[in-house]
Amino acid sequence: MLDHETNELLTRVGPNTPCGNLLRRYWHPVGYSSELSEAGQTRRVRILGEDLVLARTSGGDVLLVQERCPHRGASLLYGFVEGQNIRCAYHGWLYNAAGECIERPFESAKASRVCKKMIESYATHECGGLIFAYMGPAEHKPAFPNWDILVRNDGVRHFEVQEDLACNWFQVQENAVDVTHTFYTHSKYFEHLGMSDESGFGKPFKRFGFQRFDWGIVKSWEYESAGRGWGNLMVFPNMLRIMTEMHWRVPVDDTTTRIVWVSFTPSADGSSVQTGEPPKIVRQPARTDEGGRYLMDTFMSQDAMAVETQGAILDRSRENLGASDRGIVMFRQMLQEQIATVQQGGRPMANVYGEAPAITDLREWMGGYLPMSCAPDPTFRQSRDFTEIFNDSHIEYEIPANSPVMRG
Ligand code: FES
Ligand SMILES: [Fe+2]
Repeated sequence: MLDHETNELLTRVGPNTPCGNLLRRYWHPVGYSSELSEAGQTRRVRILGEDLVLARTSGGDVLLVQERCPHRGASLLYGFVEGQNIRCAYHGWLYNAAGECIERPFESAKASRVCKKMIESYATHECGGLIFAYMGPAEHKPAFPNWDILVRNDGVRHFEVQEDLACNWFQVQENAVDVTHTFYTHSKYFEHLGMSDESGFGKPFKRFGFQRFDWGIVKSWEYESAGRGWGNLMVFPNMLRIMTEMHWRVPVDDTTTRIVWVSFTPSADGSSVQTGEPPKIVRQPARTDEGGRYLMDTFMSQDAMAVETQGAILDRSRENLGASDRGIVMFRQMLQEQIATVQQGGRPMANVYGEAPAITDLREWMGGYLPMSCAPDPTFRQSRDFTEIFNDSHIEYEIPANSPVMRG
């Protein structure tokens, strides 16, 4: 349970909000490279409550600027891309990547030369077919982490696109540390509908645990017949990494969340694959029927039911957490602590400053029995034992012996 004030603190993401300021310290995916394949193309994007425009320049870079032109408010979505700059299609004011107005065609030469920052503009970086944005202060810009799933070349990537979720980002991301939901929300629901479930989440469940690690929270579990496993990482602040997938829960605004979903299909023998094609964008079927009832026949529909029915912004002052919800508590503490770090002028966790690593390979944090909602990776080799990952800070929870989940 959280008081109203703390709930507001952890959920509001707009400019100059404490959580918004924290989230702006990370790279977030804001578009697909293939949707801006040609110079001059523009696309509207709303992120962290800001309306922005992406534009492909003739140099091949991607500009990310505020949508509204500050002259008389027209949309830069219709702007002309000129070299590395964008010109408003209403009266022709010209802006560069730094957001400076560098030309006003109907003003005197002197007035037109005024070169000052007039629009918001943000840094972008492309990797693995995604366009990322950094919307925080320039002096704190982290290196791009080069997540393994985006830079590996021993397979092919595709993106699974679903409709935005009509709820706040934090309840979507809390689901990433909600280990227990996998039993009923997924496995039992598939069973309820008479569908097959290969995930392995429905086995008799014995215990589960959580531990902080460099990138967020690593989870552990033990199933009666399958043994121990760990991984399914909550990558701070808004990612989930499972064996062949990574999901970003991107806050569009306070009550809308976009899931950017990367799936990786490794080549069977680990050899490199060069298709030359951009990753495919695969649109997912609707999660609800025409009457708005969740179909509950896919992981996406099941998770959407869980998080959207909590309300646009879950009122955490009315919930009743149990001892089994300790992953949720750990994540809330982590988020509060990192918000405070930024408020005090510090740099938040789960970022790299200085030189970018060639690869951030999160597979080293996975091992043992891996129940999974995604395809397995036949090339995966566990690199570390349980005892090399977990220490005294590992918080475990034993499921009571008489619980129905012990019967599977
Ligand atoms: S509104 Fe953009 S130049 Fe006038
Ligand atoms: Fe789920």
